[in-house]
Amino acid sequence: MSNPNPAAEMKLQAPLQNLDEWEDFVKERYPQPAGKGRFQAANPDKKQEEFRNYEATARPSVREFYRLNHRYQTFDFVQLKKREYLSLQRRRMGIWEAMEFLNTLVDDSDPDTDLSQLEHLLQTAEQIRRDGHPRWFILTGLIHDLGKILCLFGEPQWAVVGDTFPVGCAWSDKIVFHDFFADNLDSREPKYQTRLGIYQEEGGLDNVHISWGHDEYLHHVVKDYLPEEALSMIRYHSFYPAHREGAYTYLMNQRDKAMLEWVRVFNPYDLYTKSHQRPEVNELRPYYEALIAEYFPAQLRW
Ligand SMILES: [Fe+2]
Ligand SMILES: [Fe+2]
Repeated sequence: MSNPNPAAEMKLQAPLQNLDEWEDFVKERYPQPAGKGRFQAANPDKKQEEFRNYEATARPSVREFYRLNHRYQTFDFVQLKKREYLSLQRRRMGIWEAMEFLNTLVDDSDPDTDLSQLEHLLQTAEQIRRDGHPRWFILTGLIHDLGKILCLFGEPQWAVVGDTFPVGCAWSDKIVFHDFFADNLDSREPKYQTRLGIYQEEGGLDNVHISWGHDEYLHHVVKDYLPEEALSMIRYHSFYPAHREGAYTYLMNQRDKAMLEWVRVFNPYDLYTKSHQRPEVNELRPYYEALIAEYFPAQLRW
């Protein structure tokens, strides 16, 4: 049934002012450690109440965003989106072109204080470059959020961003706003509600369906072109229940556990480079065009 009130419908689809509002909330939950070290491992001592406190004080828009995300990201929804997107028949674009396309995303960001999507990507890459990491790692920073073009294909915020989690097995209590899963239809599917669900003990994350969003989509776009470490960073960078909270290790094989260490190395660059100086896009472009050409064809299928 169509909603008679388009404004209300828009609001339902987009409770967040902009996608960064979700990321700001993640940053609140995982603040940058004081001192020099940029890397902070999961803190197993963090009290459950502390975690719940972030839920209690979250902005209403963020809360509503998670409510929709946890309600609608069912196993069937993930299969539907995979059928819809993974044949990659929407567009052909080069990487830089995709960056510019993503930058056409109009939201309620403040152009004076907020970074554009393209600036966030360049800034992430530049910090990785300054720290002397390999070229594939710099490139990963540059592209890691390009899957957010899903928004431009009409996907609602809750199907583009948000902490990701496996579907088809029980939800870890380490997932933020866990209570909202009560409204998810999978909560009434006993086969999805056991610890392993439809999966095998340590059967490997490749076999696990993760909630749909920009991570999974971009992974499929670039999977033939980048080393395994880079692909893991892209595919699991929003998988906070695993890389920050240590959940779901029982679904992972040895390789996944090794790869997750790379996701942990990447995460601080994603979270903590944002407020620094605005990058000079035109000055940086030749360097990054060359880097892109080293790994990618002129056009990719999206
Ligand atoms: Fe992201
Ligand atoms: Fe990001």
